[in-house]
Amino acid sequence: MSYFKQWPGLIKAYEKWLPITNKTPVITLQEGGTPLLELKYLNELIGKNVKVFAKYDGLNPTGSFKDRGMTMAISKAKENGCEAVICASTGNTSAAAAAYAKKGGMKSFVLIPDGYVAQGKLAQALVYGAEVLAIKGNFDRALKIVQQLADEFPITLVNSVNPYRLEGQKTAAFEIIDSLGKAPDFVCIPMGNAGNITAYWMGFNEYFNAGISKSLPKMMGFQAEGSAPLVLGKTIDNPETIATAIRIGNPVNKEKAFNVRKESGGKFTKVSDEEIIKAYKILGKEEGIFCEPASASSIAGLLKMKDEIPTNSIIVCVLTGNGLKDPDCAIKNNDALFKAGIEPDIEIVAKSMGF
Ligand code: F0G
Repeated sequence: MSYFKQWPGLIKAYEKWLPITNKTPVITLQEGGTPLLELKYLNELIGKNVKVFAKYDGLNPTGSFKDRGMTMAISKAKENGCEAVICASTGNTSAAAAAYAKKGGMKSFVLIPDGYVAQGKLAQALVYGAEVLAIKGNFDRALKIVQQLADEFPITLVNSVNPYRLEGQKTAAFEIIDSLGKAPDFVCIPMGNAGNITAYWMGFNEYFNAGISKSLPKMMGFQAEGSAPLVLGKTIDNPETIATAIRIGNPVNKEKAFNVRKESGGKFTKVSDEEIIKAYKILGKEEGIFCEPASASSIAGLLKMKDEIPTNSIIVCVLTGNGLKDPDCAIKNNDALFKAGIEPDIEIVAKSMGF
């Protein structure tokens, strides 16, 4: 017996907004429908009666927002008779591509930058049965290669140049408006290849044009200092940051991102790795939210621009990926008291607890 009606996944939830027909086989892991959490500690920290929310997309089935795009890209690939998909990835796209490809009965190939993918993400691609090719080069190089491979061989590219990816990802903007009852004033979002900021902007505009929301947010994009091509306005040959998910020097959606900034009246800003880690710790310790470092850049960015935020603003920070993806970062960057090698004796344990 079923007590609760299940969330059906974002394609079914938003089908009239998506390019699907009754012939599209819906390949879903019931992604989307993620929480919009109010961040009380951050409200206080920023003051001015602002309300800060996190769109916690790390709670998707493979632990990142990529599932939103992948359910669409893989469903359309299946509809078109495709048997194999390929992507380049800093880790999350590969995890999602591998999972959804399997769900749809397809093969997946993923190219990743050797040594620069967080352990959890690599584990996922392996467990979901992708063919993982780690190249001696960064994400930008890997993306060039997969684009060429997809041109030459019968294999579908599922990076965010695939338009169905953005169609799926735009549903996060719908969910935010459906939860708040209106559009926020600001959206703070990490940028790598800049697909997600583009997709959010599409979603906000579609609801606005349909009269469901009466305003549009300013889109605030954040990049890591050592990997900030969109902030600096130039390609970075050797991007570096602790936030490996957004370690991208030549974003494929850069023109679209510049357009989003212009149309929304937003701003792009860089944040240092130290600022990212500070925000990452605040989320864990003060809000009970474990996100990956790239995601924390949205909070780091908000803290950096806090003086520019008008009174009474409603701000949504997008937390793109789950903290479990990058356990190495977590273990190296926390303020917890960790005592090891304690004798299994009640008195000794109690004493160690301070009793
Ligand atoms: N946050 C996380 C956790 C990501 O994995 C990514 C991108 C972004 C933010 C940036 O999103 O590229 O749409 O601007 N990850 C890609 C990947 C590149 O391969 O998983 P974007």
